[in-house]
Amino acid sequence: MITQHADVRNALGDNEAFSNALTLLPIYEMCPEALSIVMEIDAPPTTAAADAPTHTRTRRALRATFPNTSARVNEQFGVIVRRRVDELVSRLVARRGTVVDLVSDFAAELPLLVIVDLLGVPPEDVPSIKRWSDGQIALIWGQPEPEEQVRLARGLLDFWRYCQKLVSLRVQEGGSGDDFISKALRYRAGDDEILTENEVASFAFNLLVAGHETTSGLIAHSLDNALSVSTRWERLVENPAGVPAFVEETLRFGPAIDGWLRLTTRDVTIGETTIPAGSRCLLLLGAANRDSATFAHPDVFDPNRADVRDHLAFGYGPHFCIGAALARLEAQVSLTSLTAAVPGLRLAPEHLTSFKPNVGFRAHNALPVFVETFGQ
Ligand code: HEM
Repeated sequence: MITQHADVRNALGDNEAFSNALTLLPIYEMCPEALSIVMEIDAPPTTAAADAPTHTRTRRALRATFPNTSARVNEQFGVIVRRRVDELVSRLVARRGTVVDLVSDFAAELPLLVIVDLLGVPPEDVPSIKRWSDGQIALIWGQPEPEEQVRLARGLLDFWRYCQKLVSLRVQEGGSGDDFISKALRYRAGDDEILTENEVASFAFNLLVAGHETTSGLIAHSLDNALSVSTRWERLVENPAGVPAFVEETLRFGPAIDGWLRLTTRDVTIGETTIPAGSRCLLLLGAANRDSATFAHPDVFDPNRADVRDHLAFGYGPHFCIGAALARLEAQVSLTSLTAAVPGLRLAPEHLTSFKPNVGFRAHNALPVFVETFGQ
Protein backbone atom coordinates (compact mmCIF):
# COMPACT_ATOMS: atom_id res chain seq x y z
CA MET A 1 0.00 0.00 0.00
CA ILE A 2 1.26 3.45 -0.88
CA THR A 3 -0.26 6.16 1.28
CA GLN A 4 1.66 9.44 1.19
CA HIS A 5 0.62 12.13 -1.27
CA ALA A 6 4.00 12.58 -2.98
CA ASP A 7 4.50 8.81 -3.36
CA VAL A 8 0.98 8.14 -4.63
CA ARG A 9 1.32 10.99 -7.14
CA ASN A 10 4.71 9.71 -8.33
CA ALA A 11 3.30 6.22 -8.80
CA LEU A 12 0.29 7.54 -10.74
CA GLY A 13 2.61 9.62 -12.91
CA ASP A 14 5.07 6.80 -13.64
CA ASN A 15 3.22 4.36 -15.84
CA GLU A 16 6.42 2.60 -16.88
CA ALA A 17 7.20 1.37 -13.37
CA PHE A 18 3.54 1.19 -12.25
CA SER A 19 1.48 -0.53 -14.92
CA ASN A 20 -2.31 -0.48 -15.34
CA ALA A 21 -2.30 -3.99 -16.85
CA LEU A 22 -4.14 -5.77 -14.02
CA THR A 23 -6.13 -2.79 -12.77
CA LEU A 24 -9.52 -4.29 -13.56
CA LEU A 25 -8.85 -7.77 -12.13
CA PRO A 26 -10.03 -8.71 -8.62
CA ILE A 27 -7.83 -7.84 -5.65
CA TYR A 28 -8.07 -11.41 -4.28
CA GLU A 29 -7.56 -14.86 -5.79
CA MET A 30 -10.82 -15.86 -7.49
CA CYS A 31 -12.10 -19.42 -7.28
CA PRO A 32 -11.26 -21.46 -10.44
CA GLU A 33 -14.84 -21.55 -11.74
CA ALA A 34 -15.28 -17.76 -11.50
CA LEU A 35 -11.83 -17.23 -13.03
CA SER A 36 -12.63 -19.42 -16.04
CA ILE A 37 -15.81 -17.40 -16.68
CA VAL A 38 -13.92 -14.09 -16.39
CA MET A 39 -11.30 -15.42 -18.84
CA GLU A 40 -14.05 -15.73 -21.48
CA ILE A 41 -14.34 -11.93 -21.49
CA ASP A 42 -12.25 -11.03 -24.51
CA ALA A 43 -12.52 -7.26 -24.07
CA PRO A 44 -9.37 -5.65 -25.47
CA PRO A 45 -7.61 -3.39 -22.94
CA THR A 46 -8.45 0.25 -23.60
CA THR A 47 -7.71 3.31 -21.46
CA ALA A 48 -8.15 2.25 -17.84
CA ALA A 49 -6.60 -1.20 -18.25
CA ALA A 50 -3.88 -0.42 -20.81
CA ASP A 51 -0.34 0.90 -20.88
CA ALA A 52 1.44 2.75 -23.70
CA PRO A 53 1.30 2.44 -26.68
CA THR A 54 -2.27 1.01 -26.56
CA HIS A 55 -3.18 3.48 -23.83
CA THR A 56 -1.83 6.46 -25.79
CA ARG A 57 -3.87 5.51 -28.86
CA THR A 58 -7.13 4.63 -27.11
CA ARG A 59 -6.96 7.63 -24.77
CA ARG A 60 -6.44 9.91 -27.78
CA ALA A 61 -9.57 8.40 -29.32
CA LEU A 62 -11.58 8.77 -26.12
CA ARG A 63 -10.51 12.39 -25.69
CA ALA A 64 -11.59 13.09 -29.25
CA THR A 65 -15.03 11.49 -28.85
CA PHE A 66 -15.95 12.17 -25.21
CA PRO A 67 -15.92 15.83 -24.03
CA ASN A 68 -13.62 16.29 -21.04
CA THR A 69 -13.22 19.99 -20.38
CA SER A 70 -15.75 21.91 -18.26
CA ALA A 71 -16.71 24.15 -21.18
CA ARG A 72 -17.29 21.30 -23.65
CA VAL A 73 -19.05 19.12 -21.07
CA ASN A 74 -21.36 21.96 -20.14
CA GLU A 75 -22.07 22.76 -23.77
CA GLN A 76 -22.68 19.17 -24.91
CA PHE A 77 -24.04 17.45 -21.79
CA GLY A 78 -25.39 20.37 -19.69
CA VAL A 79 -28.94 20.09 -21.05
CA ILE A 80 -29.12 16.32 -20.42
CA VAL A 81 -27.72 16.64 -16.88
CA ARG A 82 -30.11 19.48 -15.95
CA ARG A 83 -33.12 17.66 -17.41
CA ARG A 84 -32.36 14.50 -15.45
CA VAL A 85 -31.70 16.47 -12.23
CA ASP A 86 -35.00 18.34 -12.65
CA GLU A 87 -36.90 15.05 -13.07
CA LEU A 88 -35.38 13.55 -9.93
CA VAL A 89 -35.80 16.71 -7.86
CA SER A 90 -39.49 16.96 -8.89
CA ARG A 91 -40.00 13.38 -7.74
CA LEU A 92 -38.46 14.24 -4.35
CA VAL A 93 -40.54 17.39 -3.97
CA ALA A 94 -43.67 15.33 -4.70
CA ARG A 95 -42.79 13.19 -1.67
CA ARG A 96 -42.52 16.09 0.78
CA GLY A 97 -43.45 15.26 4.34
CA THR A 98 -41.90 11.77 4.03
CA VAL A 99 -38.50 10.15 4.51
CA VAL A 100 -36.68 9.25 1.27
CA ASP A 101 -33.31 7.64 0.64
CA LEU A 102 -31.09 10.12 -1.22
CA VAL A 103 -28.86 7.26 -2.39
CA SER A 104 -31.43 5.02 -4.08
CA ASP A 105 -33.81 7.86 -5.03
CA PHE A 106 -31.24 10.35 -6.27
CA ALA A 107 -27.46 9.78 -6.10
CA ALA A 108 -27.51 6.27 -7.55
CA GLU A 109 -30.00 7.25 -10.26
CA LEU A 110 -28.68 10.48 -11.76
CA PRO A 111 -25.26 9.41 -13.12
CA LEU A 112 -26.71 6.16 -14.45
CA LEU A 113 -29.49 7.97 -16.34
CA VAL A 114 -26.96 10.47 -17.72
CA ILE A 115 -24.39 7.90 -18.92
CA VAL A 116 -27.04 5.72 -20.60
CA ASP A 117 -28.36 8.86 -22.34
CA LEU A 118 -24.86 9.67 -23.57
CA LEU A 119 -24.22 6.14 -24.84
CA GLY A 120 -27.68 5.72 -26.35
CA VAL A 121 -28.62 2.68 -24.24
CA PRO A 122 -32.33 1.71 -24.50
CA PRO A 123 -34.18 2.77 -21.30
CA GLU A 124 -35.54 -0.76 -20.71
CA ASP A 125 -31.95 -2.03 -20.26
CA VAL A 126 -31.10 0.38 -17.42
CA PRO A 127 -31.97 -2.02 -14.54
CA SER A 128 -29.68 -4.71 -16.04
CA ILE A 129 -26.83 -2.20 -16.47
CA LYS A 130 -27.22 -1.19 -12.83
CA ARG A 131 -27.18 -4.82 -11.66
CA TRP A 132 -24.14 -5.76 -13.79
CA SER A 133 -22.24 -2.65 -12.85
CA ASP A 134 -22.82 -3.05 -9.09
CA GLY A 135 -21.81 -6.70 -9.57
CA GLN A 136 -18.55 -5.78 -11.30
CA ILE A 137 -17.51 -3.52 -8.42
CA ALA A 138 -18.42 -6.16 -5.83
CA LEU A 139 -16.50 -8.80 -7.82
CA ILE A 140 -13.31 -6.74 -8.22
CA TRP A 141 -13.17 -4.86 -4.95
CA GLY A 142 -15.33 -6.79 -2.51
CA GLN A 143 -14.49 -10.16 -1.01
CA PRO A 144 -17.42 -12.33 -2.19
CA GLU A 145 -17.77 -16.01 -1.27
CA PRO A 146 -16.93 -18.46 -4.15
CA GLU A 147 -20.60 -19.09 -5.02
CA GLU A 148 -21.21 -15.36 -5.23
CA GLN A 149 -18.02 -14.91 -7.29
CA VAL A 150 -19.40 -17.32 -9.90
CA ARG A 151 -22.74 -15.51 -10.03
CA LEU A 152 -21.04 -12.11 -10.38
CA ALA A 153 -18.58 -13.43 -12.98
CA ARG A 154 -21.52 -14.72 -15.08
CA GLY A 155 -23.10 -11.26 -14.82
CA LEU A 156 -19.86 -9.65 -15.96
CA LEU A 157 -19.69 -11.91 -19.00
CA ASP A 158 -23.34 -11.11 -19.84
CA PHE A 159 -22.51 -7.41 -19.47
CA TRP A 160 -19.59 -7.68 -21.91
CA ARG A 161 -21.70 -9.60 -24.46
CA TYR A 162 -24.38 -6.92 -24.08
CA CYS A 163 -21.85 -4.15 -24.86
CA GLN A 164 -20.72 -6.07 -27.95
CA LYS A 165 -24.36 -6.35 -29.11
CA LEU A 166 -24.93 -2.65 -28.47
CA VAL A 167 -22.04 -1.84 -30.79
CA SER A 168 -23.08 -4.33 -33.54
CA LEU A 169 -26.55 -2.81 -33.48
CA ARG A 170 -25.09 0.68 -34.05
CA VAL A 171 -22.96 -0.70 -36.91
CA GLN A 172 -26.08 -2.23 -38.52
CA GLU A 173 -27.89 1.10 -38.16
CA GLY A 174 -25.06 2.82 -40.04
CA GLY A 175 -23.38 4.42 -36.98
CA SER A 176 -24.49 7.92 -37.94
CA GLY A 177 -26.10 8.79 -34.56
CA ASP A 178 -25.13 11.46 -32.06
CA ASP A 179 -24.47 9.02 -29.20
CA PHE A 180 -20.95 8.20 -27.94
CA ILE A 181 -20.86 4.71 -29.49
CA SER A 182 -21.67 5.99 -32.99
CA LYS A 183 -19.10 8.79 -32.61
CA ALA A 184 -16.43 6.29 -31.51
CA LEU A 185 -17.24 4.06 -34.50
CA ARG A 186 -16.75 7.05 -36.82
CA TYR A 187 -13.46 8.04 -35.14
CA ARG A 188 -10.54 8.48 -37.55
CA ALA A 189 -7.05 9.83 -36.83
CA GLY A 190 -4.21 10.12 -39.30
CA ASP A 191 -4.36 7.84 -42.32
CA ASP A 192 -5.48 4.59 -40.77
CA GLU A 193 -6.12 4.99 -37.04
CA ILE A 194 -9.59 3.73 -36.16
CA LEU A 195 -11.13 1.84 -33.24
CA THR A 196 -12.16 -1.79 -33.73
CA GLU A 197 -15.74 -2.74 -32.84
CA ASN A 198 -14.44 -4.63 -29.81
CA GLU A 199 -12.48 -1.57 -28.67
CA VAL A 200 -15.64 0.55 -28.87
CA ALA A 201 -17.49 -2.16 -26.91
CA SER A 202 -14.66 -2.11 -24.37
CA PHE A 203 -15.09 1.67 -23.99
CA ALA A 204 -18.83 1.16 -23.40
CA PHE A 205 -18.06 -1.65 -20.91
CA ASN A 206 -15.78 0.73 -18.94
CA LEU A 207 -17.78 3.93 -19.26
CA LEU A 208 -21.07 2.40 -18.16
CA VAL A 209 -19.39 1.57 -14.83
CA ALA A 210 -16.84 4.40 -14.51
CA GLY A 211 -19.46 6.92 -15.56
CA HIS A 212 -21.89 6.26 -12.79
CA GLU A 213 -20.73 4.32 -9.71
CA THR A 214 -18.09 6.93 -8.88
CA THR A 215 -20.26 9.94 -9.50
CA SER A 216 -23.09 8.44 -7.42
CA GLY A 217 -20.55 8.28 -4.60
CA LEU A 218 -19.50 11.91 -5.10
CA ILE A 219 -23.13 13.13 -5.03
CA ALA A 220 -23.92 11.11 -1.89
CA HIS A 221 -20.72 12.28 -0.15
CA SER A 222 -21.45 15.91 -1.05
CA LEU A 223 -25.00 15.66 0.30
CA ASP A 224 -23.86 13.87 3.45
CA ASN A 225 -21.12 16.47 4.08
CA ALA A 226 -23.64 19.28 3.54
CA LEU A 227 -26.51 17.85 5.59
CA SER A 228 -24.58 16.36 8.51
CA VAL A 229 -23.67 19.89 9.74
CA SER A 230 -26.77 22.07 9.43
CA THR A 231 -24.85 25.36 9.10
CA ARG A 232 -23.11 24.02 5.97
CA TRP A 233 -26.44 23.27 4.26
CA GLU A 234 -27.85 26.68 5.28
CA ARG A 235 -24.78 28.41 3.88
CA LEU A 236 -25.21 26.63 0.52
CA VAL A 237 -28.93 27.53 0.47
CA GLU A 238 -28.02 31.20 1.04
CA ASN A 239 -25.03 31.15 -1.31
CA PRO A 240 -25.26 28.57 -4.14
CA ALA A 241 -22.13 30.13 -5.67
CA GLY A 242 -20.25 28.19 -2.98
CA VAL A 243 -21.33 24.81 -4.42
CA PRO A 244 -18.32 24.16 -6.76
CA ALA A 245 -15.79 24.71 -3.94
CA PHE A 246 -17.90 22.52 -1.64
CA VAL A 247 -17.90 19.66 -4.17
CA GLU A 248 -14.15 20.02 -4.66
CA GLU A 249 -13.49 19.79 -0.92
CA THR A 250 -15.75 16.71 -0.83
CA LEU A 251 -13.50 15.10 -3.46
CA ARG A 252 -10.47 15.76 -1.28
CA PHE A 253 -11.98 14.96 2.10
CA GLY A 254 -13.34 11.51 1.21
CA PRO A 255 -13.10 10.48 -2.45
CA ALA A 256 -15.54 8.06 -4.07
CA ILE A 257 -12.54 5.93 -5.09
CA ASP A 258 -10.44 5.44 -1.98
CA GLY A 259 -7.81 3.18 -3.53
CA TRP A 260 -6.69 2.18 -7.03
CA LEU A 261 -4.38 -0.53 -8.33
CA ARG A 262 -1.06 -0.66 -10.13
CA LEU A 263 1.36 -3.49 -10.96
CA THR A 264 5.10 -2.88 -10.58
CA THR A 265 7.09 -3.73 -13.73
CA ARG A 266 10.45 -3.53 -11.89
CA ASP A 267 11.73 -3.20 -8.33
CA VAL A 268 10.74 0.20 -6.98
CA THR A 269 12.15 1.77 -3.81
CA ILE A 270 10.05 4.21 -1.83
CA GLY A 271 11.77 5.57 1.27
CA GLU A 272 13.36 2.53 2.86
CA THR A 273 11.03 -0.02 1.29
CA THR A 274 11.67 -1.87 -1.94
CA ILE A 275 8.58 -3.14 -3.71
CA PRO A 276 9.56 -6.13 -5.86
CA ALA A 277 8.72 -6.27 -9.56
CA GLY A 278 5.34 -7.95 -10.22
CA SER A 279 3.66 -6.64 -7.03
CA ARG A 280 0.12 -5.39 -7.07
CA CYS A 281 0.09 -2.05 -5.23
CA LEU A 282 -2.88 -0.30 -3.72
CA LEU A 283 -2.52 3.45 -4.11
CA LEU A 284 -4.57 4.99 -1.31
CA LEU A 285 -6.00 8.14 -2.87
CA GLY A 286 -8.11 8.85 0.21
CA ALA A 287 -5.04 8.72 2.51
CA ALA A 288 -3.01 10.90 0.11
CA ASN A 289 -5.79 13.49 0.24
CA ARG A 290 -5.38 13.71 4.03
CA ASP A 291 -1.58 14.00 3.99
CA SER A 292 -0.52 16.87 6.27
CA ALA A 293 2.63 17.37 4.19
CA THR A 294 0.39 18.60 1.35
CA PHE A 295 -2.81 19.87 2.98
CA ALA A 296 -3.05 22.25 5.93
CA HIS A 297 -5.26 20.75 8.69
CA PRO A 298 -6.16 17.81 6.42
CA ASP A 299 -8.86 16.38 8.68
CA VAL A 300 -10.84 19.62 8.69
CA PHE A 301 -13.57 19.89 6.03
CA ASP A 302 -12.95 23.40 4.73
CA PRO A 303 -14.62 24.40 1.44
CA ASN A 304 -12.55 27.61 1.43
CA ARG A 305 -9.13 25.95 1.52
CA ALA A 306 -6.62 27.20 -1.05
CA ASP A 307 -4.79 23.90 -1.55
CA VAL A 308 -7.83 21.78 -2.56
CA ARG A 309 -6.85 21.37 -6.22
CA ASP A 310 -3.88 19.18 -5.22
CA HIS A 311 -6.26 16.33 -4.33
CA LEU A 312 -5.87 13.02 -6.17
CA ALA A 313 -9.53 11.96 -6.26
CA PHE A 314 -9.46 11.82 -10.08
CA GLY A 315 -5.95 10.35 -10.23
CA TYR A 316 -2.97 12.13 -11.78
CA GLY A 317 -0.82 11.95 -14.92
CA PRO A 318 -1.44 9.79 -18.00
CA HIS A 319 -4.60 8.09 -16.69
CA PHE A 320 -6.17 11.23 -15.17
CA CYS A 321 -9.95 10.74 -15.16
CA ILE A 322 -11.61 11.49 -18.50
CA GLY A 323 -14.95 12.05 -16.77
CA ALA A 324 -13.81 14.54 -14.10
CA ALA A 325 -15.60 17.51 -15.69
CA LEU A 326 -18.82 15.50 -16.14
CA ALA A 327 -18.71 14.23 -12.54
CA ARG A 328 -18.17 17.77 -11.22
CA LEU A 329 -21.05 19.10 -13.33
CA GLU A 330 -23.46 16.39 -12.14
CA ALA A 331 -22.60 16.95 -8.47
CA GLN A 332 -22.72 20.74 -8.77
CA VAL A 333 -26.09 20.81 -10.57
CA SER A 334 -27.48 18.31 -8.03
CA LEU A 335 -26.50 20.39 -5.00
CA THR A 336 -27.57 23.68 -6.57
CA SER A 337 -30.99 22.30 -7.55
CA LEU A 338 -31.63 20.54 -4.25
CA THR A 339 -30.70 23.53 -2.09
CA ALA A 340 -33.08 25.66 -4.19
CA ALA A 341 -35.99 23.20 -4.39
CA VAL A 342 -35.89 21.62 -0.92
CA PRO A 343 -34.03 24.02 1.38
CA GLY A 344 -35.62 22.36 4.41
CA LEU A 345 -34.05 18.96 3.64
CA ARG A 346 -32.53 17.30 6.71
CA LEU A 347 -31.03 13.93 7.60
CA ALA A 348 -33.50 11.51 9.19
CA PRO A 349 -32.86 11.70 12.96
CA GLU A 350 -32.09 7.99 13.48
CA HIS A 351 -29.63 7.88 10.57
CA LEU A 352 -26.23 6.22 11.10
CA THR A 353 -23.81 6.48 8.17
CA SER A 354 -22.54 3.16 6.83
CA PHE A 355 -20.67 2.19 3.67
CA LYS A 356 -20.73 -0.82 1.35
CA PRO A 357 -17.99 -3.38 2.18
CA ASN A 358 -15.46 -2.51 -0.51
CA VAL A 359 -11.74 -1.69 -0.56
CA GLY A 360 -11.76 0.59 -3.61
CA PHE A 361 -15.12 2.32 -3.82
CA ARG A 362 -16.48 4.25 -0.85
CA ALA A 363 -20.25 4.19 -1.33
CA HIS A 364 -23.04 4.87 1.16
CA ASN A 365 -25.55 2.13 1.88
CA ALA A 366 -28.24 4.76 2.31
CA LEU A 367 -28.80 8.42 3.13
CA PRO A 368 -32.32 8.78 4.56
CA VAL A 369 -33.58 12.37 4.66
CA PHE A 370 -36.80 14.09 5.64
CA VAL A 371 -38.16 16.15 2.76
CA GLU A 372 -39.65 19.33 4.20
CA THR A 373 -40.38 22.18 1.83
CA PHE A 374 -42.98 24.16 3.78
CA GLY A 375 -42.32 27.43 5.57
CA GLN A 376 -39.17 28.27 3.59
C1 HEM B 1 -9.92 7.24 -14.68
C2 HEM B 1 -11.94 8.59 -10.48
C3 HEM B 1 -16.01 9.80 -12.81
C4 HEM B 1 -14.23 7.77 -16.83
C5 HEM B 1 -10.10 7.57 -13.36
C6 HEM B 1 -9.08 7.49 -12.34
C7 HEM B 1 -9.65 7.83 -11.17
C8 HEM B 1 -11.03 8.17 -11.43
C9 HEM B 1 -9.00 7.86 -9.80
C10 HEM B 1 -7.62 7.12 -12.57
C11 HEM B 1 -7.42 5.64 -12.73
C12 HEM B 1 -5.95 5.31 -12.93
O1 HEM B 1 -5.07 6.12 -12.62
O2 HEM B 1 -5.69 4.20 -13.36
C13 HEM B 1 -13.21 9.04 -10.76
C14 HEM B 1 -14.10 9.63 -9.78
C15 HEM B 1 -15.24 9.99 -10.45
C16 HEM B 1 -15.07 9.61 -11.84
C17 HEM B 1 -13.78 9.78 -8.29
C18 HEM B 1 -16.49 10.65 -9.93
C19 HEM B 1 -16.55 11.31 -8.81
C20 HEM B 1 -15.88 9.38 -14.12
C21 HEM B 1 -16.87 9.56 -15.15
C22 HEM B 1 -16.36 8.97 -16.27
C23 HEM B 1 -15.04 8.43 -15.95
C24 HEM B 1 -18.19 10.31 -14.98
C25 HEM B 1 -16.93 8.87 -17.65
C26 HEM B 1 -18.11 9.13 -18.03
C27 HEM B 1 -12.91 7.45 -16.57
C28 HEM B 1 -12.04 6.81 -17.54
C29 HEM B 1 -10.80 6.66 -16.93
C30 HEM B 1 -10.94 7.21 -15.59
C31 HEM B 1 -12.42 6.37 -18.95
C32 HEM B 1 -9.55 6.01 -17.52
C33 HEM B 1 -8.65 7.06 -18.11
C34 HEM B 1 -7.33 6.47 -18.57
O3 HEM B 1 -6.98 5.36 -18.14
O4 HEM B 1 -6.65 7.11 -19.38
N1 HEM B 1 -11.28 8.01 -12.77
N2 HEM B 1 -13.83 9.02 -11.98
N3 HEM B 1 -14.79 8.70 -14.64
N4 HEM B 1 -12.22 7.68 -15.41
FE1 HEM B 1 -13.00 8.44 -13.74
